[in-house]
Amino acid sequence: MLTPKKLLIVFSLAVISICCGLAQPTGPSIKRQPFGITKDNKPVDIYTLRNANGVEARISNYGGIVVSLIVPDRHGNFGDVVLGYDTLDEYVKANPYFGCLVGRYANRIAKGRFMLSGKEYQLATNNGPNHLHGGVVGFDKVVWQAKPLVTPHGPTLELQYVSKDGEEGYPGTLGVKVVYLLSDDNTLRLDFTAQTNKKTIVNLTAHSYFNLAGKGDILAHELMINADRFTPVDETLIPTGELRSVKGTPFDFTQPRSVGARINADDEQIKFGKGYDHNWVINKPDGKLGLMARVFEPNSGREMEVWSTEPGVQFYSGNFLDGTLTGKGGWVYQFRNGLALEPQHYPDSPNKPQFPSVVLNTGQTYHNTIIYKFFVR
Ligand code: GLA
Repeated sequence: MLTPKKLLIVFSLAVISICCGLAQPTGPSIKRQPFGITKDNKPVDIYTLRNANGVEARISNYGGIVVSLIVPDRHGNFGDVVLGYDTLDEYVKANPYFGCLVGRYANRIAKGRFMLSGKEYQLATNNGPNHLHGGVVGFDKVVWQAKPLVTPHGPTLELQYVSKDGEEGYPGTLGVKVVYLLSDDNTLRLDFTAQTNKKTIVNLTAHSYFNLAGKGDILAHELMINADRFTPVDETLIPTGELRSVKGTPFDFTQPRSVGARINADDEQIKFGKGYDHNWVINKPDGKLGLMARVFEPNSGREMEVWSTEPGVQFYSGNFLDGTLTGKGGWVYQFRNGLALEPQHYPDSPNKPQFPSVVLNTGQTYHNTIIYKFFVR
């Protein structure tokens, strides 16, 4: 029986919970806010996508960067699981690819050189002797045209960019579309499509650094990679062309293992990468959506699965983080404070005819789907 006194208590609790932001999350939504202005005076926005469970992704149309991704732990506490900055200026100043879209060619091309239809192309060499992540101004550093929309599947952010013929040395004008979708099964999904007006090469990915604990290093994260083989590299991180079995090596993540268990092993490949910075050959056909990797963080109970249509995944254990960058909320990013799992075609594919092809012809549409799905255990 609700007496006037009980009614008053219920009413007061409701008011308190609304005022303190404790109210049950409302339906899926997307909202736009200004994020700043680039050096060449382009206004940039940040979009907050929210699902019915209160999971929230903040994504900027500068580089398509996932600035924050807030998911619950096993006790229902929400926390940010990606590395990044509070302001646009910091991203513009020095971003080691935190959260961004990567293209036209994710990962490395040896000496920035490749042949296509009998012609040699020379790209920027922005990583020692090699080309990395699309060059000097890759897709991570451009302003994308954005279209927010709430669909029956959840809030979506559609980003479009037209990369001109010859941009960063690549042939063909490439029209790229990336659609972010945050759905109520706590999944952030990216669908990439691209078309060209001249035969070219394409390899697009997304580059969030995850830390499912939201602090410290990622060495206790337990990782499974659905791969029996990886592509060993030379000292400049270019694949030798071999597909090597992971059996009996620190690269065997077929069963979940902590990232830290073998990261300092006396192993030539580990030395070349300063830890893990390699491409795994996923046990599934190229082009089919499949599970690539699963990461579990035992303290928070947060777990993430990565799915994609791509044939490989680069697992990078944050070996270049060295305490010189300070991120969101004053977190000084130390050695191995984040890990990236980048679904992709294998590095240096344009120079490795035995690897799955990255050539895109006119009249074809490039497709790539990447899914990050969050659970608790
Ligand atoms: C990729 C590369 C790494 C590094 C990071 C960003 O994972 O393979 O070597 O460049 O991006 O620093």
